[in-house]
Amino acid sequence: MNCDTPLKLRVSEFTAEARDVVSIELRAPEGGPLPPFEPGAHLELQLPGGLRRHYSLCNDPRERERYLIAVGRAPASRGGSRHIHQQLRVGDVLTATALRNNFPLQAGAPRYRFIAGGIGITPLLAMIHACEARGAEWSLLYCVRSRSRAAFQELLACWPQRVSWHADDEHAGRPLDLEAALAAPAEGEQLYCCGPDGLMQAVRKRATGWVPEQLHFEWFSAPAETPASSPAEAAAGPRPFQLVLRQQGITLEVPAHLSILETLEANGLALPCACREGLCRTCETAVCAGEVEHRDYVLSEAERAAGKSMMICVSRARGEVLELDL
Ligand code: FES
Repeated sequence: MNCDTPLKLRVSEFTAEARDVVSIELRAPEGGPLPPFEPGAHLELQLPGGLRRHYSLCNDPRERERYLIAVGRAPASRGGSRHIHQQLRVGDVLTATALRNNFPLQAGAPRYRFIAGGIGITPLLAMIHACEARGAEWSLLYCVRSRSRAAFQELLACWPQRVSWHADDEHAGRPLDLEAALAAPAEGEQLYCCGPDGLMQAVRKRATGWVPEQLHFEWFSAPAETPASSPAEAAAGPRPFQLVLRQQGITLEVPAHLSILETLEANGLALPCACREGLCRTCETAVCAGEVEHRDYVLSEAERAAGKSMMICVSRARGEVLELDL
């Protein structure tokens, strides 16, 4: 379902959804169907200044003639959300450089539990549409700083039995009861969480009754804690190693202070990349030989164990030599 063919999209509607949150409806410039997407998918949009930003699709995946994204105004915006909030207008044409899904909804689970923080509601909304379409059991805990900042309230009000709220400025200052939110997972139940780093880390740490295969996270930015493969590796920090490029027939030295991607760029080899933080999968590269110290946020445990590919923007060699299919 991933699509790397650039796609022109016209802004057909621009709606203020909540304080500092807008939704943008995108359609084909000439009308007609768009490439299909699965719940959890995101668009990579090209924005002025060479920026590439990823936005989750939040409409019903059965809708074929439009995509809907929502964008929160980031206080420390590096340009993406600022441009969308201040300059984007109905009629503007954007280029989507990719349509990908790093956060797929596992089919056939007996129940789905969703935990959203702020703008993290976006991929979960498409999943909720899919659950409704399939008649699947689901529930959502939506955490926001205040209800004035909560997007899509009108839509979520359609499911009062399934949606619960935690607003930081309500509940007489009581903190979010994550123990209750994570209690009693059923066998095969799947939990999907998307939101700010603090919420995601808290859910990850406290979901002790869940097995890793039941837990799914979508990170918008790299968490404060780097996912080194082991505490010893985290303590040791990055080490230099030799990088063999099988197709090129050359060997490079990757110093401790550079990533593989940076080393390739320093040697005149430009490869596709977007986030440079191990979040988007754009730089995924096949591994021919050697063991990988995975430091990304997108590969599953099974994919890591298989060791067939790696994110070269953040991951490194565990041993002295690593051979890639480049
Ligand atoms: S560039 Fe995004 S994962 Fe490497």
